[in-house]
Formats: sequence, C-alpha cells, structure tokens
Amino acid sequence: MAIDRNITIDFELHERQRRIWNDPARFRVVAAGRRFGKSWLGCAMCFDVALHGGRAWWVAPSYPMSNVGWRGLAQIRAQLPGVGIDLRRGERSFAFPGGGEVRVKSADNPDSLRGEGLDFAVLDECAYMKPEAWTEALRPALSDRKGGALFISTPRGLNWFRDLWLLGQLPEQSEWRSWSFKTVDNPFIDPAEIEAARAILPSRVFRQEYEADFMEDAPGALWKRAWLDAGRVLQAPELKRIVVGVDPSASATGDACGIVVAGKDASGELYVLDDLTLQGSPETWARQVVAAYHKHKADNVIAEANQGGEMVTAVLRQVERNLPVKLVHATRGKATRAEPISAVYEQGRAHHVGDFAALEDELCQWEAGDASPNRLDALVWAATDLLQPAGVLVGKPRQAVTAR
Ligand SMILES: Nc1ncnc2c1ncn2[C@@H]1O[C@H](COP(=O)(O)OP(=O)(O)OP(=O)(O)O)[C@@H](O)[C@H]1O
Ligand SMILES: [Mg+2]
Repeated sequence: MAIDRNITIDFELHERQRRIWNDPARFRVVAAGRRFGKSWLGCAMCFDVALHGGRAWWVAPSYPMSNVGWRGLAQIRAQLPGVGIDLRRGERSFAFPGGGEVRVKSADNPDSLRGEGLDFAVLDECAYMKPEAWTEALRPALSDRKGGALFISTPRGLNWFRDLWLLGQLPEQSEWRSWSFKTVDNPFIDPAEIEAARAILPSRVFRQEYEADFMEDAPGALWKRAWLDAGRVLQAPELKRIVVGVDPSASATGDACGIVVAGKDASGELYVLDDLTLQGSPETWARQVVAAYHKHKADNVIAEANQGGEMVTAVLRQVERNLPVKLVHATRGKATRAEPISAVYEQGRAHHVGDFAALEDELCQWEAGDASPNRLDALVWAATDLLQPAGVLVGKPRQAVTAR
C-alpha cells in the first residue's frame, strides 16, 4: 500500500504529552515521574517519523529494558492494521511501506549504536545510560540527516541527563527545550495509586520517582554520584581475590538479601563486579549466593552472622557442601563500618565494572537512621574483607569468625 506522506494519525496523547509533541525544538528533554507516559510518547514519535518515510531508533539502557519499547511499538502497530507495517522480530525493527523504519536498540554497547544516518532517536530512561551513548554514537548519527532526539527519563541525581535538561531551559539554546512533569500529570493514572506509593516510599525516593525532582545526593549519605561515575570502568583488570558479600535476610517476605560480588587487583584497588541482591526464602538466596560464587570464580563468601550465624552457614552449605563461608559480626554501627569503604571511593580507588543502579541509589541515598540498606551492607562486608587485611583501611580491625 502506498503511503500518503502527509498522513496524520491521532495517537491519543494526553495534554502534557501533546505539548512536547507539538514543540518544534530539535532536541527535547523530558524529566518525568514514573508512569507519566514517557515511553508511550516516545513510541508514538518514532512511528510518526517512520510513517513519513524516516528512520528512527528507540534506544534503551539495556537489552531487558529495550523490551518496553518493543512491546509499546508493537502495541501501536496493532492499532494501525491498515498501514501495512512489517514487524521484523529478528532485527527488532518495524518496516513501513513508504521506506520508513523503527529499530529497537540497547545502549549498553555504544559501539552497536554507530554507523547509520538517523532522522530521530528516542533515548528512553537515558539517565541510566552512559553519556557516550549520546555524545559518541547517537549525536553523530543524527548529523547527515539533521535528525532530532527525544530524551526521556526519571531523574537520577545530578548526572548528564540533568545537564541536558538544564540546556533545554536556556532561551539561547534554541535547538533544545526541556520539561518536567510529575506522575499525577498523566490523567490515565489513578491519583489514589500515587498516594499509596507516597505512603510507603521514603520521601526522597518519592520525590525523585514520582515528582521528577533532580535530587542531590542525600546530605548525610556516605557516597557521592560523582565518585561512582569517576571510578566506573567497563572491564576489571586481573583480580587477586574475589569475594561474595552477603547481608542475609531472615524471612522470605521481609528484607531482600544483599548479595554483592567484588574483587581487588594487585595494587589493592577495589572492583565491584555484580549486584545479585534478591528477595526470597533462605533457600532462594542461598542458591543465588552459590551461583554468584561460581559465576565470578570467587575465593570466599563473606556473610553477616548477626541474623543467626549458624543458620546462614547451614543454609548455604545445603546448597553447596564445601562452600567457603566466612562469617562476620557487626560490632560497630552501620555507618561506622561503611565510612572506611566510602573513603576508598573518595580517594578514587574503587571502581564499578558497569552500572549498578539499585546499589548506587542506595549508596548515595542511605542516611544513618534509614531502613536497613541490604546492598550497601553486602558491599561493605565484601570490601572490608578485601581491603582490610592489607592494611588499606584505617580504623579498628573487624571481628571475624571463620566457620569451620
Ligand atoms: N496517551 C495515552 N493514552 C492512554 N494511555 C496512556 C497514554 N500515555 C500513557 N498511557 C498509559 O499510562 C501508563 C504509563 O505509560 P508509560 O509506560 O508510557 O509511562 P512511563 O512514564 O514510560 O512509565 P515508566 O516510568 O514505568 O517507564 C501505561 O499504562 C500507558 O498505557
Ligand atoms: Mg517508560
């Protein structure tokens, strides 16, 4: 079917989405709360470009997150049965009769984003992407066709997404425009749901996730985003010792069990390799710990014993009889334990291999007195074990008991 290039399809946007849609700025930046309708708007804009013969990419921070875009786009296609849009699952793309195309991509490998001239790019949840995805891959790809971009995300501290958003607030930057919307601005979301979330979430989390506030690091938090970003690497060097830190949980329905894998290199620098924290029965988390131990060829499991030390060892050994487990006891307060580790980050001697969003949020937001931070605890146990014996950490030695 030949397609009329002047086709207009009513994508049924709500009023705030339509404001963004109608704006002529080439680069549009939207900081909005959860469920505002960011992804829906991005899908509609990609389709509009492709309906007019253009090439658009939907880019998500990771492959699993890109499925949101894939499903949203497939849903819109289903609403346009007469248009003849071909869904190409293998290529994760949609081909339009007039030559237009929409492709779904993941930014965790910026190299996969190179090499094609684009008319439009949507960067969904881009506060969770590395800035290089934009600066080195997508921005150049838009150059030959003078393409545009939509940046949509919930905020994540004062990172590069905030910088782009600020650009959009400057009147002299005529190519850029930015908006900020809250979850309640989506008329399709029941306000009672939002109030229910407000009631259970820590206020900082609610402000960031539902009110789209660009939050600075919590004033009393022991880590800063800037340290995490400065130390981030794509690959770890050869590591001398690797451990799995575990902050066990006593019940299946209570706290999550913190599981963080870290190692140190020959010069004593710290590398965080994985965050496999999960909520579940002791058997479930024990399986996860053993899987983490094998996945990273770890030397030892370091588990906090305060929640019933013998139980922790017994549960782990039920999954793997000879698992090397070292139990550690919290004799000092959480913040006191964490301080020497945060100091190692501040000195630039700690590196995250990749991006661990939930762990990093916890590090930069937990303040003494908040509910127990399971990921932070697991990291602190692992890092303390790795760094203390070499005399790298200052302060009193930790009390450790090795389970026999
Ligand atoms: N214009 C619209 N018309 C009808 N429903 C809409 C519209 N925009 C969004 N929705 C609905 O609102 C909900 C949230 O939309 P969407 O997933 O796009 O939001 P989001 O801001 O990307 O959310 P998240 O923060 O979870 O990624 C979905 O159920 C979606 O179907
Ligand atoms: Mg979304």
